[in-house]
Parts: sequence; structure tokens; C-alpha cells
Amino acid sequence: MKRTAIVTGAYGAIGKSIAEGVASAGYNLVMVGRNEAALLQCRDELVRSTGNHDISYRVVDLSRKQQVEEFSRSWDGPLHILINNAAATPRSRLETPEGIEMQFATNVLGYLWMALFFRDHMAGLDDARVVNVASYWAGDMDMNDLEFRVRRYNNDTAYRQSKQANRMLTRALVPVLGEKGIFVLAAHPGDVNSRLSNNLGYGGWESPEQGASNPLYCALDPSLKGVSGKYFEHKKEVSCPFAADHEAVKRLLKICMGY
Ligand SMILES: NC(=O)c1ccc[n+]([C@@H]2O[C@H](COP(=O)([O-])OP(=O)(O)OC[C@H]3O[C@@H](n4cnc5c(N)ncnc54)[C@H](OP(=O)(O)O)[C@@H]3O)[C@@H](O)[C@H]2O)c1
Repeated sequence: MKRTAIVTGAYGAIGKSIAEGVASAGYNLVMVGRNEAALLQCRDELVRSTGNHDISYRVVDLSRKQQVEEFSRSWDGPLHILINNAAATPRSRLETPEGIEMQFATNVLGYLWMALFFRDHMAGLDDARVVNVASYWAGDMDMNDLEFRVRRYNNDTAYRQSKQANRMLTRALVPVLGEKGIFVLAAHPGDVNSRLSNNLGYGGWESPEQGASNPLYCALDPSLKGVSGKYFEHKKEVSCPFAADHEAVKRLLKICMGY
């Protein structure tokens, strides 16, 4: 039976290349995003380019816990690979209908909710992996003001905080997922021209294929079977100071679990 993978943000610049790599590797691929027309078009393109007909999609707003939960409840069958890639960088401070700051909800809680709600679908499988697409562009976390209620919102600061959180929560999830036999890695993709990077005021000099290559390595390379909690750039493990702060990692997980 084919192995199954989810890629979130699958019609974005890097997400589409990740999705293409996963489909080319012969996976049953489920693409996740908010825009049905974009998902449909992306699916048709990937079926053509990869020859893999087992590509489908689901419309889910990952910034909304209830939608993620409903998605996981309606999931039928095992899930071997989850690639959390979707992220947003709105230029002004936005909130979800639940009143959560948008970058924190999408880039941080969305990743966590996907991993937690899909954990049981991934339990006990051979080499089940969660890959959190993070970034070297990370830092400036304020755990007392994760939603920019006190600090003046700046989309770059909010983004760097969210990518720091991805790396910390990757570490935090090791025991939570490990008890179900699931491994979790964080991957920097590369600097790629996209709406996300343009919102932050930069372009990007790497192709989407180059950007996808490290997340794909973390998701698919057999040599990483059993490796968990690590952060990778350019297919190399890089030590992460954020993940090494165990007290902060525990505190962040506790805060996020409260949402
Ligand atoms: N580009 C870079 O240079 C760079 C560098 C380091 C790390 N990264 C990381 O790479 C990942 C992909 O970024 P990208 O540059 O490819 O950005 P992108 O082209 O803007 O793609 C982002 C994707 O996420 C989706 N998304 C956003 N909010 C969503 C939500 N609430 N629910 C579902 N889907 C949602 C977007 O869909 P909509 O169109 O519907 O919003 C889009 O498909 C991100 O995690 C980013 O942090 C990128």
C-alpha cells in the first residue's frame, strides 16, 4: 500500500515544490490550503508533472483549531508524513475570528494543532515523520507577549518569533510524538521569492526546488529514520540555541497548549 503524506500551504512557492517532491516519491499526497481554486489547479499541474494520480486536496484554514480538528476527525487511514509548511506574514496585525494574532495562530499554533490532532493517525507506523518548515530567520520571542498585544506589531518581528517557536516546538514535541513512534524535525528551506518573503521586504535568490530540497530531505531521506528533535539547514544538522533552552521550550509548549 502507498504511504500517505500531507503538505500544508501546498500551492505556495516552496510548498508546491515540496508537494511535487513528495508526489514524485510515489506518495499518496493530500495538499492542504485555504483556496480551493488554487488547490485544484495545483493538483492538476502536479498530476501532469509527476504522473502520480493519487493527489487530492483539503480546504482547511490552519489558523483555526476547529477546522484542523474537523480535518483530522474526517481523516480515513494512516498518515506517514506531515509537512507543516503553511505560513503567513501579514503587514498589519490581524486576528483570527477567535481573536488570536494571525502569525501566531497560523505559523505556530497551526503547526502544533496539525501534529497533535494527526498524532493518532501516525501512531505505530514505520518511519512516521513530522517536518516543521522553520527558518534560520528566527528570534526575538517574548513569551509574555506572543500575540503583540503589548509590543507594537511588526510583521518581521512576529515572523522571526514564529520561526523561533517552530524550532522550539519541534524539540518540545519529541516526547509527545515519540511515545507514538513518530519523529519530528525542523527544516530551513532556503531564501525563495514568495508572497511571504515579499511581505517581509525581501525577494529570495534560491529557486523553489532548492527551497524544497532540505524539507524533502528531512521528510524522505532514509538516513534520518529515527532522528528526532533536530534542526536542519542545507541537509545538515545545525545546533539550535532556541531548542537547547529546555525551560523555555517547556514553557512555550505549555502556553501553546492553552489555546
Ligand atoms: N520564502 C523564503 O525565503 C523562506 C525562508 C525561510 C523559511 N520559509 C518558510 O517556508 C514556508 C513556505 O513559505 P513560502 O515562502 O513558500 O510562502 P508562500 O508562497 O506565501 O506560501 C505560504 C502558503 O501558506 C498558505 N497559508 C497561509 N495561511 C494559511 C492558513 N491560515 N491556512 C492554510 N494555508 C495557509 C498560503 O495560502 P494562501 O495563499 O491561501 O494564503 C500559501 O499557500 C513557510 O513556513 C516559511 O516560513 C520561507
